[in-house]
Amino acid sequence: MRIGILTGGGDAPGLNGIIEAATRTLLNLGHEVVGIQDGFEGIYSGNHVPLTLDTVRGRHAFAGTLLGTSSRSGTQGRETEFKKAYDKLNIEGLIVAGGDGTFRCLQDIEGVRLIGVPKTIDNDLPGTDATFGYDTACSVVSEAIDDLRTTASAHKRIIIIETMGRTAGWIALGGGMASMADAILIPERPLNLNKFRDFLKSKHSQQRGIIVVASEGTTLEKDVQRELDKSGASVMVSDYGIGERLAKWTEEEIHWEARHVILGHLQRSHPPSTTDRFLTTAMGIVAARLAHKGEWGKAAAFKNGQVMPVPIESLMGPARNVDPEHRWVKMAQALGIFI
Ligand code: F6P
Repeated sequence: MRIGILTGGGDAPGLNGIIEAATRTLLNLGHEVVGIQDGFEGIYSGNHVPLTLDTVRGRHAFAGTLLGTSSRSGTQGRETEFKKAYDKLNIEGLIVAGGDGTFRCLQDIEGVRLIGVPKTIDNDLPGTDATFGYDTACSVVSEAIDDLRTTASAHKRIIIIETMGRTAGWIALGGGMASMADAILIPERPLNLNKFRDFLKSKHSQQRGIIVVASEGTTLEKDVQRELDKSGASVMVSDYGIGERLAKWTEEEIHWEARHVILGHLQRSHPPSTTDRFLTTAMGIVAARLAHKGEWGKAAAFKNGQVMPVPIESLMGPARNVDPEHRWVKMAQALGIFI
């Protein structure tokens, strides 16, 4: 068979591991493998490359995706054009590493045979207990906490570290717990500024510096949102990032010097951790075997400690957010971490 591999949506450390593991497995099973370039754009334009052992060997160690990706082009209103271009590729089916958006787009195209690999650095896809790239992102946050603690303490400052996670707090929570940040703020537990003020005040007399990890999507309890508005003077609440806003608020409210650091795309570009490499190797192999057996419409997900086939639809349900009472939240509370 001739099988295509495509990576869609935002990149996450481990995509190259999926490509390498799936390609090597398919080649060993006697198939031909082609890589579609730049996500859906490569389907429309027909841009693809042969994937050989030489093309993929060793690439699992690097972040990014050797095929390129795109989160911009979809299929809505272009279904016929997409199917025509897909047919021209002359492939038996596609292995796609993507998020729910990517799979939803493909679901609408009749005749496209699909094997899915769940992908988001935010770790909030349903149908899988974990996504690759998440562990690496947590390591980046954890290392940043360890490093920034030194300068926070040297200058007696609060440092607010803003992490990825627009709607899910997994990265802030996992990274924050790994290095025992002093406070962890996540969207699933709206922040009460009054309680946060009390916490910071009590820390001011006890500790030289403190580290707050805030998910970029941190939400505020409704009644205190106005308070943050006021302290932000002429700047509206939604005009800039939570890290910067909280740093300003802290200086004004507690008179404790504050700085903020946005980790941003450093979380995505770090070489995949060992855990993510194991995960992507297993997912790539399972995805390739599913294609080999012609079990289209399935995905390689991580469930109950192992990678296994699941129906692709199970990746398209509502997001898997952090339970506000998750056991990691309880662990944080046991340690006296503000959460
Ligand atoms: O959804 C994944 C994610 O990495 C978010 O955590 C982040 O807010 C967003 O993508 C960044 O997207 P972009 O690279 O398009 O700015």
